[in-house]
Amino acid sequence: MDLPIGAEYRELLSSQAHIWNHIFNFINSMSLKCAVQLGIPDIIHNHGKPMSLPELVQALPINKAKAPCIYRLMRILIHSGFFTKQRKLENEQEDGYALTPASRPLLKGHPFSVTPLLLAMLDPIMTTPFNFLSEWFQNDHKTSFEMAHGRTLWDYAGHEPRLNTFFNDAMASDARLVTSMMIKECAGVFEGLNSLVDVGGGTGTVAKAIADAFPHMRCSVLELPHVVADLQGSDNLEFVAGDVFEAIPCADAVLLKWILHDWNDEECLKILKRCKEAIPCKGKGGKVIIIDMVLDNQKGDAESIETQLFFDILMMAIVTGKERNEKEWEKLFLDAGFSDYKITPIMGLRSIIEVYP
Ligand SMILES: C[S@@+](CC[C@H](N)C(=O)[O-])C[C@H]1O[C@@H](n2cnc3c(N)ncnc32)[C@H](O)[C@@H]1O
Repeated sequence: MDLPIGAEYRELLSSQAHIWNHIFNFINSMSLKCAVQLGIPDIIHNHGKPMSLPELVQALPINKAKAPCIYRLMRILIHSGFFTKQRKLENEQEDGYALTPASRPLLKGHPFSVTPLLLAMLDPIMTTPFNFLSEWFQNDHKTSFEMAHGRTLWDYAGHEPRLNTFFNDAMASDARLVTSMMIKECAGVFEGLNSLVDVGGGTGTVAKAIADAFPHMRCSVLELPHVVADLQGSDNLEFVAGDVFEAIPCADAVLLKWILHDWNDEECLKILKRCKEAIPCKGKGGKVIIIDMVLDNQKGDAESIETQLFFDILMMAIVTGKERNEKEWEKLFLDAGFSDYKITPIMGLRSIIEVYP
């Protein structure tokens, strides 16, 4: 029953609840990170059936005096959809914790584990810049990341091996899912190509998979020296240390996965012009293959739209980039001298964009 309070207070209390929810939104992220660091998804999975609270507490590497707090941690994670409570066995009264589809990709052995991305993005190196955002709006620093750490993300990764490792691992984990999907569901994208260069291709997860799936294709990864320093190629895979702003090795196609959203329009134009120089000219089968978000193409799904907007602010805080809508993409392509493009919105929140000279 609604209490008879005045409209003025009703609205104020509802605003207060909305603000509180946003103040503490980070607790969702941090609770999930805590559960992953304690190994909760794997412990429940390895148990093989719903796991009671005492069983979970017993299996966890924690100070047992903190046991009652595990109930509270699990309660918020049930609320956010990562775990569920199920009857342990038909003849047992007790309920136990079980995984949901949302927690399966957090398992260590999952082929497309999202855990490396979670641990990387919630590392203090990546979250500290957000404390500088308002100040950044008022000064002339290029990014909040540079205000927090005194260097760009890429420069810092070249000097801090822990960042280099966790960032590359995060990218590789994402690349496994994207590549598997592309090769199985969109193999047509690679039709007619005899060579491909993956620009900013990290430690080569995408290029290796493409080189294996299409043995006739010569693949290369152009990356910053600290990323590819110790990597070995194969018969049809080569690692090239370099800088995308200087030159891109020639190939039938240039792949840019999660690259252009790292850079502002001016920087993207330079990259796209380098790409155009690297591929065969119009009518000769050359193209640029982009994997990135296209804002506004997720109609009606509030969580997807919010996640895309999170990524946009992430790009604003840690690099000079942004997420773009179709109009913004089109302008970039035309300004860089390309004549046509095709968007295939097949990768969940991201799309494959093929761009033609
Ligand atoms: C967001 S990551 C994407 C990695 C990979 N394409 C993927 O999606 O899995 C961006 C990559 O660009 C690389 N990078 C940054 N600046 C670069 C430059 N000037 N030349 C070449 N690569 C660069 C970084 O080292 C990093 O691996």
